[in-house]
Amino acid sequence: MSSWVSHLPKDVKYKEVIGHGLNRQELIANQQLNRHWIQDLNRSQELPLGKDTIDFILIVAGWQYLQEPENIAEELYRISKPNGILIISFSNRAFWNKCPNIWLNGTYKEHFEYINSILIGAGWENIRNTAESSKGLYPFNIIGIKGDPFFCVTANKSY
Ligand SMILES: C[S@@+](CC[C@H](N)C(=O)[O-])C[C@H]1O[C@@H](n2cnc3c(N)ncnc32)[C@H](O)[C@@H]1O
Repeated sequence: MSSWVSHLPKDVKYKEVIGHGLNRQELIANQQLNRHWIQDLNRSQELPLGKDTIDFILIVAGWQYLQEPENIAEELYRISKPNGILIISFSNRAFWNKCPNIWLNGTYKEHFEYINSILIGAGWENIRNTAESSKGLYPFNIIGIKGDPFFCVTANKSY
C-alpha cells in the first residue's frame, strides 16, 4: 500500500523491493522500488506474487483502508517465506471516511486487537504490538506539543 516513499533505510542494500499501490504516478516516482503493481485490494485480494517468496512485508498507514483484511492477511501469509516478517504500522491519522467503523470508533488498543485477531486467524505467529510517542517538531516541542504516535504490529510466519 505504497506511495512515492517507502520509509526504508537508505544505507541498506536490498535484493529487491516490490511495491504495490493505487496511484501509478506515485509508484513510478518511488526511488526505492525495483518494481510495482497496481491493485485495488478492496476489489480483489489475490496478490500476484508466488507462495513463500517474500522476506519482509510492510504496510505503512494502509491497513485501515482494507475492507477484506482477513483475505489479505491470508494472502500475505501465503507469499511470506517461512520465518518471514510482517510489519504493519499506523498512527492516529487516517482518511476517516474510508475506514471501517471498527477503526473509526476504536482506540489504538482496539486497533491492535483488531489486527492481532485477524493475523492470528490467518496463521501468523509471534505477534507483537508497539506503541511509542514521538517528539514534536521544533518549535512546538519546546511547549510540550508531541508528534504523531507510532503504532506497529509485527508477526512471523513460522513453519
Ligand atoms: C496514507 S497512504 C500511505 C502510503 C505509504 N504507505 C506511506 O506511508 O507513505 C495510504 C495508501 O493506501 C493505499 N490504499 C488505500 N486504499 C487502497 C485499496 N483499496 N487498495 C489498495 N491500496 C489502497 C494507497 O496506495 C495509499 O497510497
